Amino acid sequence: MNTYDQIIQLALERGFYFPSSELYADASAGFWEYGPNGVKIKNKFLDLWRRELVRRDNMLEIDGSQIMSKSVFSASGHLSNFTDPVVKCKKCFSSFRADKLIQEVAKIEVPERLANELVDNLIKEHNIVCPLCKGNLSNAERFNMMFRVEIGPNHDEAYLRPETCQSIFVDFSRIYKVSRGKLPLGIAQVGKSFRNEISPRQGLLRLREFYQAEIEIFCNPSKLDELTKFEEVKDTILRIYDGHTIEISVQEALDKKILPNKLVGYYLALLVEFFEKTGIDRKRTRLRRLSDDEKAFYSTIAFDFEVDTSIGWLELVACNYRSDYDLKSHSITSKTNLEVMDGDIKVLPHVFELSLGVDRCIYSIIEHSYYIDRESDDRSVLKLKPYLAPIHAGVLPLLRKPEFKEKSMKLLNLIQKDFDVFYDEAGSIGRRYRRLEEIGTPFAFTIDHQTLEDDTVTVRYRDSMSQERISIDNVSSFLFTNVYTFERLPSSKAQYLPK
Ligand code: GLY
Repeated sequence: MNTYDQIIQLALERGFYFPSSELYADASAGFWEYGPNGVKIKNKFLDLWRRELVRRDNMLEIDGSQIMSKSVFSASGHLSNFTDPVVKCKKCFSSFRADKLIQEVAKIEVPERLANELVDNLIKEHNIVCPLCKGNLSNAERFNMMFRVEIGPNHDEAYLRPETCQSIFVDFSRIYKVSRGKLPLGIAQVGKSFRNEISPRQGLLRLREFYQAEIEIFCNPSKLDELTKFEEVKDTILRIYDGHTIEISVQEALDKKILPNKLVGYYLALLVEFFEKTGIDRKRTRLRRLSDDEKAFYSTIAFDFEVDTSIGWLELVACNYRSDYDLKSHSITSKTNLEVMDGDIKVLPHVFELSLGVDRCIYSIIEHSYYIDRESDDRSVLKLKPYLAPIHAGVLPLLRKPEFKEKSMKLLNLIQKDFDVFYDEAGSIGRRYRRLEEIGTPFAFTIDHQTLEDDTVTVRYRDSMSQERISIDNVSSFLFTNVYTFERLPSSKAQYLPK
């Protein structure tokens, strides 16, 4: 079984995620649900995102509507531009996303935003037919990926948002005023977005309903190189890909004009530093600069933060310099002046965005953490950072006896409000450790005979499998120290960290 299939199996069997409406045959592809372990890792991932980006940079967070008016998407350009090329089989009437089909069949790189005529030419040139029935394919047409909805008895036209950030743009001037904002100002939002993908597939990787965590940084375009906090990150190393990957400090990338300005450099550095804390292998990530035919219609400069996985490079974050595209369009369409004061000067801010696909991040974190420990019974382990683990700690009575249970309950009462804890008394102790390791639980506390005498328990570390004894009364502080440790610990205290 390949790694991707192993992760899917783990996800299904251990409640990370699974297809939606799966009891029914008419369930549509592209809708997946998070189970209990999935929700916990997702929430913890978002807590880390808030810690490392939103709070670190004093950003503001909002929570906007998922359904927005037609005017919003008319102004944003999504009604006319948010399309993919689709071809239909003339024999079996199946539909395919044309660029992906060409890519798969002809094994060539196809830019995302290819014009219809070029799609038709490639289909002819490579003799591409319907992969299901070998029928001939129609010419390419554009398919708008937004979900249209109708509101109220008059069926007023509206749309499920295809990106969370539109409410940030529409709300911007109000938020700026009420929070007495100053440029540059980051506004963040986590929530669901919706895209009517032509051929959704691969679990969490291409969904029709998905989570985004987006940050829009509003800035004065004449001050992009005046960011004093740039000094904090100027030595951060970025891995930038432009045909090949180079490792370069933010300052050097700026000097060599690989990066356009300090503001972009600063936020790319914050992003990279955040991902280092997720446990994704830094050496298997890159910032790919997009060419003009790959960029979204609103973007003038774009980098994708990508991660190498068993099924190829995946885009996790789209980093777009959107200029004043959005505020200007909303200003014109709504006939509202969206300029704000920057000191004594009125300015229509520009925007740099970090648009993160949460579900893909969760998949990538799980895949990068997963390994089979060949030296220890082929145990399967998720080497998750403790602060991302769905369950922080197991509480395991060695024997199924009332006195062991009583001590276990005492321990549970001390820690379960602050930590995610799993009590397990079923099966051999070895099996119970395996079940915890498989979902990434970094610590297991075992109540044994000695506990009955001196109120101590063993703590077992997931990665090293070593054990030591601590008093039940110290377990809570042990967990506070060892779960919420975001920087590397000195090695003596770091037994749970990757070697
Ligand atoms: N807001 C950018 C995107 O959704 O890709």
